[in-house]
Amino acid sequence: MEKNKLDVVLGLQWGDEGKGKVVDVLTPSYKMVARFQGGPNAGHSLVFGGDHFVLHTVPSGVFREGTVNVIGNGVVIDPVILLEEILAIEKMVGSITDKLVISKRAHLILPTHRMLDAASEAAKGKSKIGSTLKGIGPTYMDKTGRNGLRVGDILTPEFQDKYNALKKKHQGLLAQYDFQYDITDYEKQWMDAIEALKRFPFIDTEVYVNQALENGTPILAEGAQGSLLDIDFGTYPFVTSSNTLTAGVCTGLGIAPSRVGNVFGIFKAYCTRVGSGPFPTELFDEDGERLRQIGHEFGATTGRPRRTGWLDMVALKYTVMMNGVTDLIMMKSDVLDTFDTIKVAVAYEENGKTITDFPYDGGEHVKPVYKEFPGWKTSLSGLRRYEDFPEAFKQYISFIEKETGCRIKIVSVGPDREATVVR
Ligand code: GDP
Ligand code: IMO
Ligand code: MG
Repeated sequence: MEKNKLDVVLGLQWGDEGKGKVVDVLTPSYKMVARFQGGPNAGHSLVFGGDHFVLHTVPSGVFREGTVNVIGNGVVIDPVILLEEILAIEKMVGSITDKLVISKRAHLILPTHRMLDAASEAAKGKSKIGSTLKGIGPTYMDKTGRNGLRVGDILTPEFQDKYNALKKKHQGLLAQYDFQYDITDYEKQWMDAIEALKRFPFIDTEVYVNQALENGTPILAEGAQGSLLDIDFGTYPFVTSSNTLTAGVCTGLGIAPSRVGNVFGIFKAYCTRVGSGPFPTELFDEDGERLRQIGHEFGATTGRPRRTGWLDMVALKYTVMMNGVTDLIMMKSDVLDTFDTIKVAVAYEENGKTITDFPYDGGEHVKPVYKEFPGWKTSLSGLRRYEDFPEAFKQYISFIEKETGCRIKIVSVGPDREATVVR
């Protein structure tokens, strides 16, 4: 018998593709939205009714009526950041106590994890990853190293002892760095936040999600970061510390691969990246600066300017393949409105050789081979029907569909919920 499946939204580039907006737009068709990896390194923006909101740990379904939001076991949680976020949401929409559940198996980011992240990055100097400094790497290290502290531990009598033991271990590690720190204030906030979060159910979300699936509840899994930041298949070592691909949905929520239904792969009509690492189509010229200014390409979590460049089909085809994408969603098309010519990398060149498969090193030394498209030179942002799109833009869409073998189901033409064209 065919089993019920859940759908997935995830980013196909280096993050910040617009996942928050898309999840918010799709949520009315779902009753549950679940985050499966990452943590407060994520910044997911939602824009509606003139308001702008950035979510870090809470799933992007939280602003829709009748939706339960799940923080899955694959997520890492900083209680201070999570509580701040919850209180800000509640200021807008009232209590969300009955709209949010948290996995007992999710790992906690300790104040000392953040210090370790900062110390490690400072020690790396020029070769730093460009981490968001939220303690993500050290927390996942403790998870795989089997030292971590989990949400479920909060409810046990040994919690304080376990916390102290892990903190002590971290202090030993920090002593090896030339790094000054003081966590007194943050630690107090952290303990207070832990107390305050106890009003939310800490549960076995894997059972909860599987039962919901069994009962026919429509569920959407929300990815964080992007496929090219995946710990295994991204541009290692300039990646995050979790599996951002569809595969991560299974381990990060506890559902079987056969339970994965539609995979909505999101990409920008161009590319951005924040932090260090290879970026074959990166622009250092006026076009790059225009993309950054028109697209407001500044980090939603750190405020850092994002690096910008043209769309990269070599990378996109790779991530479509790795995720088993069933439908594509193209974001920020409106940012290209004023360009005379739009370029897309269709291959790379290295040492006189043409490369069409995404390379192991992320294309550190390659030169992109571009195909050029005439710009549409009209504003897309007011359009709501595919039929009304200019011909040149439709050509751009068709080319991407042909190359990836995947239909573009949704085109986003502005940050607001409403600025969305569904085909
Ligand atoms: P996420 O991390 O994938 O959720 O993406 P971010 O929120 O970090 O970054 C996406 C940015 O683009 C946010 O500022 C959004 O408000 C904005 N955005 C989303 N879709 C569109 C679009 O179609 N056009 C424009 N101009 N901005 C968009
Ligand atoms: P969302 O969900 C863009 C990047 C950081 C850095 C690298 C490692 O908003 O798309 P980490 O803090 O995870 O150790 O940083 O990954 N990075 C992101 N870039 N969007 C994100 O999330 C990111 N989360 C992490 O800039 O290069
Ligand atoms: Mg973001």
